[in-house]
Amino acid sequence: MSEQEIKVPDLGGADEVEVIEITVSAGDSVEAEDPILTVESDKASVELPSPGAGKITKITVKVGDKVKEGDVVGMMEASADGGGSDDSKKEPEGKAEEKSEAKEQEKSEESKPAPKKASGGSRKETVKVPALDGFDNVPVIEINVAEGDTIEADDPLVTVESDKATMEIPSPYSGKVGKILVSEGDKLSEGHELLEMTVQEEGGESEDDSEPASEEPAKEAKSEPESEEKPKQQVESAPEPQGATYEPPTPGAKVHAGPAVRKLARELGADLARIKGSGPKSRIIKDDVHAYVKSQLKQAQQGSGVATGSGIPGVKLPDFSQFGEVKREAMSRMMFATANNMQRSWLNVPHVTQFEDADITDMEDFRKAQKAAGEKKGVKMTPLPFLLKACATALAELPQFNVSLDMERKEVVRKKYIHIGIAVDTPNGLMVPVIKDVDKKGLWELAAESAELAQKARDKQLKPAEMQGACFTITSLGGIGGTAFTPIVNTPEVAILGVSKAAMKPVWDGKEFQPRLMLPLSLSYDHRAVNGADAARFTTVLSQLLGDIRSLLL
Ligand code: COA
Repeated sequence: MSEQEIKVPDLGGADEVEVIEITVSAGDSVEAEDPILTVESDKASVELPSPGAGKITKITVKVGDKVKEGDVVGMMEASADGGGSDDSKKEPEGKAEEKSEAKEQEKSEESKPAPKKASGGSRKETVKVPALDGFDNVPVIEINVAEGDTIEADDPLVTVESDKATMEIPSPYSGKVGKILVSEGDKLSEGHELLEMTVQEEGGESEDDSEPASEEPAKEAKSEPESEEKPKQQVESAPEPQGATYEPPTPGAKVHAGPAVRKLARELGADLARIKGSGPKSRIIKDDVHAYVKSQLKQAQQGSGVATGSGIPGVKLPDFSQFGEVKREAMSRMMFATANNMQRSWLNVPHVTQFEDADITDMEDFRKAQKAAGEKKGVKMTPLPFLLKACATALAELPQFNVSLDMERKEVVRKKYIHIGIAVDTPNGLMVPVIKDVDKKGLWELAAESAELAQKARDKQLKPAEMQGACFTITSLGGIGGTAFTPIVNTPEVAILGVSKAAMKPVWDGKEFQPRLMLPLSLSYDHRAVNGADAARFTTVLSQLLGDIRSLLL
């Protein structure tokens, strides 16, 4: 392996340029044309590529140094396969891709001044800056084309940036880019000459086509395309930072970054406006973009930051086996689906839970009195049908609970039907069959239907249609125990009633304490759709209905 110098190649006419970023360090292995460092003239940023494949042994410049063609910027050992070239003065292939606009322009001026009028089916046009939506004197931050490029109408020519927005000025024509008349940093206003273009005539085949030139632009006919073409506005303003590691720039501050950095940021989806530049004059360099993206990923994975809206902070699992024996097993599809639904509801719905105790002493007396009738019918009357009936009545009285929110269309969907889901605990997990038109059914019918659906759920016999269309859900843990809980709303419904175990409690009747059977109710609701006062009304209605079932039976 032989050591060779890494020299600054032909800079396309620029005398001295500043090193703004060093992309490799001693010891790094590089391929031919990998960027070694980025230099910047007053016109453009250019990446200096590696002259060959090998290992960097030394970098002899630092950020801020001024270099010119032929200067040694480092040393490398060419790899054994001969990837390196000893002739470091030779301009590497592929450099053309990263050539600065300055060089492109320079070369074109030397080699082939564009003809005033092309012969045959093409003609020469000077593209001017169109109306800029009221902006004036906006600086060019990027030139998106190079001389010789063949472009389509509407392709972006240059990007300008005011303190409020970044705009791409699109090409009014399809054709070939000629001389570029502006440079990065130039301030543009409407009418400013941007560049020359050789425009293909309609029906023409090439620049040398001998058909007579038409006076109309190649694309759709535009009488004054320069002033009619609207620039495409990309960004209204920098969005508010959400958990970003980097400070947002002060309002009105410009983003300083070269084309290569802008390209990288675009590829990685990084918003330059949120990245703090560590280069000279706070210029953003590639390392800044990489560091920013890394920090955002880390935040998302470790849950160390605020949720960004694009995802939620993750939970990092420890190695549980360090604490004792563990066994891992796959989640069932149902468990995974339920887990996702719960998380979606919990994250999307601002939950509030309203608690109430209903006096069901009389209701229970009545229910127990139905035991013989139930045996005759083959149906067991549990508290659930009473709860279903009470909820249907409350939903009819307070229809703000019988809605879904369509946030995308900014609409409230009001339902004219009352279907109620019942959460059923099964060996396979939680299932929620739906009883349709609860308001139109009697207690025995509801008792039979809920028992049948609960059994079907336990036997995995429910059809999809039997689990759809609920307006509201009841989840009863009363047969198991507990005094209260905070159920999760089954979105897109906006409320759910949790029922805990009824218990005898001393209730003051104004003169003395009476032993009463009290049923704890926990109503969770979506606070976007329902306000607290309505929630208190809903549980009060339920408590009254369950406390005096004569009104329920009416
Ligand atoms: N307080 C006291 N006792 C209650 C009660 C309550 N709130 N609710 C029911 N009971 C009693 C019933 O009267 C019955 O007693 P009995 O046999 O002496 O008459 C017993 O508890 C069992 O009732 P159950 O079979 O559960 O019937 P149900 O109609 O009340 O409930 C389901 C049906 C499907 C709701 C219920 O079986 C179930 O699966 N509940 C769990 C729901 C769940 O897991 N929710 C959690 C979601 S996160």
